Amino acid sequence: MEKVYIFDTTLRDGEQTPGVNLTVDEKVQIAKQLERLGVDIIEAGFAISSPADFEAIKRISQEVKKSTICSLARAVEIDIKTAWDALKEAEKPRIHTFIATSDIHLKYKLKMSREEVLKRAVKAVKLIKEISEGKAEIEFSPEDAVRTELSYLYEVLEAVIEAGANVVNIPDTVGYAIPDEWHDKIAAIKENVKNIDKAIISVHCHNDLGLATANSLMAIKAGARQVECTINGIGERAGNAALEEIVMAIKVRKDQFPVYTDIDTTQIYRTSQLVSRLTGIIISRTKPIVGDNAFAHESGIHQHGVLENRETYEIMKPEDIGLKESKIVLGKHSGRHAFKKKLDEMGIKLSEEQLNEAFNRFKELASRKKEIFDIDIELIVEGLEDTEKD
Ligand code: KIV
Ligand code: ZN
Repeated sequence: MEKVYIFDTTLRDGEQTPGVNLTVDEKVQIAKQLERLGVDIIEAGFAISSPADFEAIKRISQEVKKSTICSLARAVEIDIKTAWDALKEAEKPRIHTFIATSDIHLKYKLKMSREEVLKRAVKAVKLIKEISEGKAEIEFSPEDAVRTELSYLYEVLEAVIEAGANVVNIPDTVGYAIPDEWHDKIAAIKENVKNIDKAIISVHCHNDLGLATANSLMAIKAGARQVECTINGIGERAGNAALEEIVMAIKVRKDQFPVYTDIDTTQIYRTSQLVSRLTGIIISRTKPIVGDNAFAHESGIHQHGVLENRETYEIMKPEDIGLKESKIVLGKHSGRHAFKKKLDEMGIKLSEEQLNEAFNRFKELASRKKEIFDIDIELIVEGLEDTEKD
């Protein structure tokens, strides 16, 4: 089985989420948790972008030794030098350099020709080798690859591999790709780019159409062996592919993906909570894998099934992501089975007649109230006793 490398960019692309601003200490804390999670490469920031980013990359390079530490750099000398200065003390440093290759970016943003961009890309890769004296791994991204003409994309990739790039990352910068189209694009790159075997193919998918996870998985099917992602899928606009979704899809659907990752999935929930707390980005209740409802069952039929055998309605175990157990949530769809289980858990014993009455009162309350808490049950039972006394 081949390994898929997990490249986490929570601290770089994730920090580009509008409204997010992490302190250096917070970034170090997240990086340490990412290391515990088993992330292979941590993109710790964009060294040239601010003194705080520089400082965070430097501290993470000093304090996190198991994962590769990476800084982003435009394909210009000052960025590459600054990235290397920040990364010098890392055990495994990587510089991720990028330049846009789509005609729309060339015309309106870079105002450069295709030839100029190609030369600049090659020069940047050679510069990383030179400045780091061969110590830094080199990753190259043709930004907006999704909208880049394919033959030009091949040309750029061939040239950067020839210059020494170890990883070629194919970004869907604007979240435009559709899964089968993206699969075919990655397969075509694997098939047609000369010496592609000398580099790892990576993908970096944005979520503008809600397809970032699907596109990342299809890329793996087509031969990508690194995926770039963030915790909880945070990032620019609608965010990046979510690490927890990709990793759990590979784990749960082993039959579809003959690959593995080194992620310790039992650290997923903790990492997700930490990132949410420090960034202030709230996780939707229905967010796959880490949302509050991901392992919660409310309807009577589902609750009955899960109480008999969890696999009736659960395709993964809560323990797999580091949660203690699934939640049986009492609400208006809940049945007697779950209600009785809740009473047992709370140590409340009722006669058959009392149980019937308590269940009726619970159903009546649940039709008015969204969620039923332990205190509601206690009050129902207390009410029964009062009725008896009356
Ligand atoms: O979305 C993107 O294209 C990027 C690159 C810098 C890889 O974040
Ligand atoms: Zn991005």
